[in-house]
Amino acid sequence: MLILTFSNTVMTFPFSFRLVCSFTFSLPFLYEMLLCSDMYNDTVMNHFENPRNTGEIDQPDGIGTVGNPNCGDMMKLYIKIESGRLVEVRYKTFGCAAAIASSSIASEMVKGKSIDEALALTADEIVTALDGLPSQKVACSVIAPDAIKAAIEDYRRKTESSTD
Ligand code: FES
Repeated sequence: MLILTFSNTVMTFPFSFRLVCSFTFSLPFLYEMLLCSDMYNDTVMNHFENPRNTGEIDQPDGIGTVGNPNCGDMMKLYIKIESGRLVEVRYKTFGCAAAIASSSIASEMVKGKSIDEALALTADEIVTALDGLPSQKVACSVIAPDAIKAAIEDYRRKTESSTD
């Protein structure tokens, strides 16, 4: 639990800082770092090392938190919606390189899109945008569209309750 909390914070910092901290605090993350450059293509490594749109949104319209039950990894995603479009998307992901890269590219893919377009994003489209993932890591891409759906559900719940 300590690692989870710490790594959630660390994911918003630059790669070099994450590496140093993960070396000290998170052996699973270090293990991933040692293996990933051989496992993943350049697009995945680019998003893993330089994740886009990380962090939180102050007073978000929706928050989605999802976990991968197989490994315990987590993603918390924040959205801001204006005129039916996702004008801002931010997240914190505690997970493997595939989960972080999927979170990063998914945030780019749905930013500026309508709610329906964001809901339609699939894990397959994320894997394609990443130029592929190793077969054993494809399931890790599901965390991002699930978090987007959860955040939009949260937005809709809040919107409906405020109009009651
Ligand atoms: S191993 Fe958990 S999301 Fe990849």
